[in-house]
Amino acid sequence: MDTSVNVLCIGAGYVGGPTMAVIADRCRHARVTVVDVNEARIAAWNSDALPIFEPGLDDVVRRARGRNLFFSTDIEAGIRDADIIFVSVNALTKTFEEGAGRAADLQYWEKTARQILAHSTRGKIVVEKSTLPVRTAEAMERILNSGERGLRFEVVSNPEFLAEGTAIKDLERPDRVLVGSHETPAGANARRAVTDLYATWVPRDRIIESNLWSAELSKLTANAFLAQRISSINSISALCEVTEADVDEVAYAIGTDSRIGPRFLKASVGFGGSCFRKDILNLVYISESYGLDEVARYWESVVRMNDWQEARFVRRMLASMFNTVAGKRIALFGFAFKADTGDTRESPALAVTRQLLDEHAHVVITDPQALANARIDTARLEGAIEYEPDPYAAAKGAHAIAVLTEWEVYRTLDYARLLAAMERPAFVFDGRNILDHRRLFEMGFSVYAVGKRPLKHV
Ligand code: NAD
Ligand code: UGA
Repeated sequence: MDTSVNVLCIGAGYVGGPTMAVIADRCRHARVTVVDVNEARIAAWNSDALPIFEPGLDDVVRRARGRNLFFSTDIEAGIRDADIIFVSVNALTKTFEEGAGRAADLQYWEKTARQILAHSTRGKIVVEKSTLPVRTAEAMERILNSGERGLRFEVVSNPEFLAEGTAIKDLERPDRVLVGSHETPAGANARRAVTDLYATWVPRDRIIESNLWSAELSKLTANAFLAQRISSINSISALCEVTEADVDEVAYAIGTDSRIGPRFLKASVGFGGSCFRKDILNLVYISESYGLDEVARYWESVVRMNDWQEARFVRRMLASMFNTVAGKRIALFGFAFKADTGDTRESPALAVTRQLLDEHAHVVITDPQALANARIDTARLEGAIEYEPDPYAAAKGAHAIAVLTEWEVYRTLDYARLLAAMERPAFVFDGRNILDHRRLFEMGFSVYAVGKRPLKHV
């Protein structure tokens, strides 16, 4: 087919795959290729069993794949042919020496920049799609424009704001698309090429243009603000539990103030996901490196509060179950970091599992989509652990159920049937506040929900 722009995306993960699938679906004039070093992942993208679970993704891929969407491991050919290269590789947190545990590990980024330079025969637009520390583009540009052949590369920042579980909707109808570039004629041209791509389906007034550093910093800031709201309401949930206030009522009362707004005020066992923690720690590290220690401490507290909330959830389980869970079967309902995804990265369920195993509990994990990842994440943990796709089988003989992911299916289970198969007294710990607590209590469960007075029989 006739295509006028060659788009390449390096990195076929949770962002690269869905983002490029939607671009290809919406931009018939673009030939979109997604490459990755991971052969198994690319093979899965080319099969009927896509490597990630995301509602609506199958349909989009089916429409575009083989037409103007291609998945490949041939990174060099991809680079050679591309006009615009999105880089969507993972920049994990550094695990060694300077900045360990906080700074972004940029070694893969640097390698990617060198690879682009080595295999390009003409200048290109390189788009930062990954979330990166502010001013990463500076280093990228230095490497890209250091070649002896005089090729010119323009770096554009186009951070991704999709959330897992709603990725396709977020991509098809985004709140905004952000594109940052240098304020030079070449920068403006590159920015236009990227905004034109999105303008095929995103209204122009939803495409925000900015300078390069604002775009980079806006992404970290957006995630930090979202996580901060969750830590804020979680801090209040602790106060609710000792004062008999109800956190859902408090969240509703404050969320109806249009200046505050209702979203991201759902108290929980804690936030997870691959990015909130990583991006905030990144912000902390950058602030420290500029000597802004107060700023660093401020944002660090958001992560600290989250760690505390996860630990507090298990402490409450322990305290209510007569200070011991040793040898007790505990069914964990959900292991994904949120509903509608199989992703378990930084899931609070992992922290809860670890602590329960430390207390010698017998942990049974169930999840409709994330059981395979749960197995991988917990493979090295010592203790009694089982994986069970059927929640009824997971709860059989259990002393407690802990809801850790807000899967819709957990709202509609037959709790009378679950109760009948459990040990007594039977406990429910609702880490997502999705169940009908009063009804469960009347059925015979002792119910502990986040930020609420316990409803207990014992
Ligand atoms: P991911 O781990 O799912 O995917 C990254 C992919 O890059 C992997 O498949 C890996 O094999 C590949 N890769 C790594 N180095 C490579 C190289 N040198 N050449 C080719 N392929 C390489 O990660 P993700 O969740 O897609 O996140 C990617 C970036 O997007 C991160 O910076 C993340 O912060 C950001 N982000 C993620 C989300 C999300 O919901 N997951 C949302 C917005 C932004
Ligand atoms: C988040 C952001 O929402 C995206 O905009 C961003 O692009 C992405 O991070 C990223 O950069 O990776 P995601 O992690 O997929 O998206 O999911 P969220 O819906 O933000 O949920 C994150 C965590 O917070 C989940 O564990 C969720 O259960 C928890 N959460 C969310 C709460 O505990 N309470 C809430 O009110 C909302």
